[in-house]
Amino acid sequence: LPALYLARAARRGDPVGRLLRDPAAREDPFGLYEQLRARGPLSGSALGPVTASHAVATAVLRSDAAGVGWDRSRAPALVRWALRFGDELDATGVAEPPSMLVTDPPDHTRLRRLVSRAFTPRATLASEPMVRRTAEALLDRLAGRDDVVDLVGTYAAQLPVLVIADLLAVPAGRREDFLRWGAAAAATLDPGLPPRRYLAAERALRAMHAFLRGHFARLRADPGEDLVSRLVTLPGDEALTERELHATVMLLLGAGFETTVNLLGNAVVLLDAHHEQWDALREDPAGWDGAVEEVLRHDSPVQLTGRSTTRDTEVAGVALPAGARVTLLLGAANRDPAVFTDPARFDVTRSNAREHLAFSGGVHYCLGAGLARLEGVVGLRTLSERFPRLRVAGRPVRRDLRTLRGFEVLPVRLG
Ligand code: HEM
Repeated sequence: LPALYLARAARRGDPVGRLLRDPAAREDPFGLYEQLRARGPLSGSALGPVTASHAVATAVLRSDAAGVGWDRSRAPALVRWALRFGDELDATGVAEPPSMLVTDPPDHTRLRRLVSRAFTPRATLASEPMVRRTAEALLDRLAGRDDVVDLVGTYAAQLPVLVIADLLAVPAGRREDFLRWGAAAAATLDPGLPPRRYLAAERALRAMHAFLRGHFARLRADPGEDLVSRLVTLPGDEALTERELHATVMLLLGAGFETTVNLLGNAVVLLDAHHEQWDALREDPAGWDGAVEEVLRHDSPVQLTGRSTTRDTEVAGVALPAGARVTLLLGAANRDPAVFTDPARFDVTRSNAREHLAFSGGVHYCLGAGLARLEGVVGLRTLSERFPRLRVAGRPVRRDLRTLRGFEVLPVRLG
């Protein structure tokens, strides 16, 4: 239903229908965001109520009257079909429970607490040398190349997948498989995804579960110090069910690289287009923290999410009935002129860039935000130091996704 419905909505000129169906909107959704903003803080759309407002999105994310509200009946018809006939476990993805991303408290609180220790500021800081070593090793392999190189395939995608593989003790040698499976799983975050792409995602998820089964068995037999070893050996009263274990590790693995690759790719394209700002960062690397925040704000790797109201409520002066599914356009909220002056301007010295909602808010605030920031700063700084004359050398190819915003191919000359 949604694919057809959205296509029709797009033809009728509904900005959200166009956002999800029109290929031009994938490249540049920002004009449509402004049309929606002009309609008021909350407007109707093919997906139900939608907001481009920073204040409304923040209020909904923090509201105790809104949850992720996942409901199997809302899953696409094909997924419901697969759930009926397939093995329950095989069909578990990142966008359905018990993935914590789409689970409400109290289960959400329990699942998140079990893994959050591995993502504290201290744990993240301890990963810094590993992130740096990984970045340097990848760039070593590129040294001396004077042809056009795809920076996503050789670096932006490789760094996050190798980092999360290290943290989850999964063999780095399987990283091309992870990248393939992750790309398919990422598509399931998109509303109204056409059935053929759900089928591809379903196949990829099954392969990923098969790998994880073996991985868990190996670590149960011979546990290490890593997070997954701890999760598979939790004592009886804390132990996760097999479904929870699969959903949790699959989410960490996927969320660990599917978003950060976009941060790195988007940053290189933006900095290439604003070369004077890149030069200034090379002069004063202390500016990298702010630059990463500005990239996250200006071209948010996660453009949208949603919440469902659990009772009649009012947010930012807007009345919402119980059961309303509100689409939160994070990428639009991050261009809200009420918060960010001249929001379309890319400015790595912007003083309040960190007020962006690129990592969402409330109880589902990105668990890996600190790690993502670290990978952004170390990854971009190391790249800029190693290849100071790097330039984009061809048209980047955008990923065919709506929830995630980033590039699949990014041709560069390393200089
Ligand atoms: C959740 C963005 C990197 C793990 C989220 C959400 C967003 C987000 C927007 C919440 C979605 C919602 O509220 O519905 C990003 C961005 C990243 C990034 C933009 C990179 C630039 C990472 C990394 C990890 C990670 C490196 C590492 C494991 C998670 C997890 C959740 C999450 C586990 C679910 C948290 C929960 O439901 O409580 N992320 N993320 N993310 N992210 Fe990230």
